[in-house]
Amino acid sequence: MWNDNVERVNNAEQARQAINARPASGRISFTEYQRYDAIQNYLSELATNYTDIVSVEEIGTSYEGRAINMIKIGAGASDNPIILVEGGMHAREWISPAFVTYIIQELVENEANRNMIENTNWLIVPVLNPDGYEHTHTSARLWRKTRSPGLLCTGVDGNRNFDFHWMETGASALQCSNTFAGSAPFSESETSALRDVVLQYTDQIKLFLAIHSYGNYLLYPWGHTSDFPEDVNILDALAVEVESAIASVSGTRYTIGSSTNVLYAATGGSADWVKGVAGVNLTYTVELPGGGIWGFDLPASRIIPVCEETFEGVKVYQNYVENNFKKN
Ligand code: ARG
Ligand code: ZN
Repeated sequence: MWNDNVERVNNAEQARQAINARPASGRISFTEYQRYDAIQNYLSELATNYTDIVSVEEIGTSYEGRAINMIKIGAGASDNPIILVEGGMHAREWISPAFVTYIIQELVENEANRNMIENTNWLIVPVLNPDGYEHTHTSARLWRKTRSPGLLCTGVDGNRNFDFHWMETGASALQCSNTFAGSAPFSESETSALRDVVLQYTDQIKLFLAIHSYGNYLLYPWGHTSDFPEDVNILDALAVEVESAIASVSGTRYTIGSSTNVLYAATGGSADWVKGVAGVNLTYTVELPGGGIWGFDLPASRIIPVCEETFEGVKVYQNYVENNFKKN
């Protein structure tokens, strides 16, 4: 089994905290946005309660020293195809960690989705930029970047920091810019942590999803050119199916296309690097729906509806990976 030989990071203290933090329902709550600690406790709780299908691994440490945790979920063959999901790259996009945590809950705690973990394995990082995320809760709601210090300004845009056409376009060399690409590719411990996961599992990862907000986009590469990748037809057709599954719930529509063509050119994003360098064919940046004055402040009452409709899209993605990559 996928999780048989993995050393678990949970311990008695973490389990005790998790139980104390657990809401009455026995699950994490999606009626409010959760802080980093609550999400970590939930992961630990799952690792404690579902030892046969879940393990939690610390894949790195943020600049301020927070654990960057990844949950591994799988109930089938250890060589099942892997779906990798990244959440919380951009600090202010609160619906991203919320939705990614919802995916985790559905996969682990909803028996109806058992097929999704028996036939594919999952690597999921709900909060890749924990320092930034906490900063948006305590100090600056619209913070986007990491929290690594520079001479003049703090933080790097993690989604400009990956080493593929780095700093070519749509990224800034200015430390104080919101799209500062960093002093060098992978200058950030957060982006390096994700890179190392991808490199460790390269051949097994068949789909990568980077979850952002906002704007209702399903974006596939590239960010450096308006030219399409050679497998654009596959990327596009799959997105069309995903989009219609999402729309079928309550009519929410997404724009589908290559990131340069339907949004803007920008380099150094994770989805481009995972495809262009690591060679995972299917990579998408998902821009979830927005809300509030700035777009990043989707009211908490919208978390569950957005999660429910978008999870229908995740089912389509999973089904595609199972049908096309699972060994029989
Ligand atoms: N909003 C995301 C960002 O700015 C989108 C990235 C998608 N890639 C692109 N080249 N537009 O990081
Ligand atoms: Zn973003």
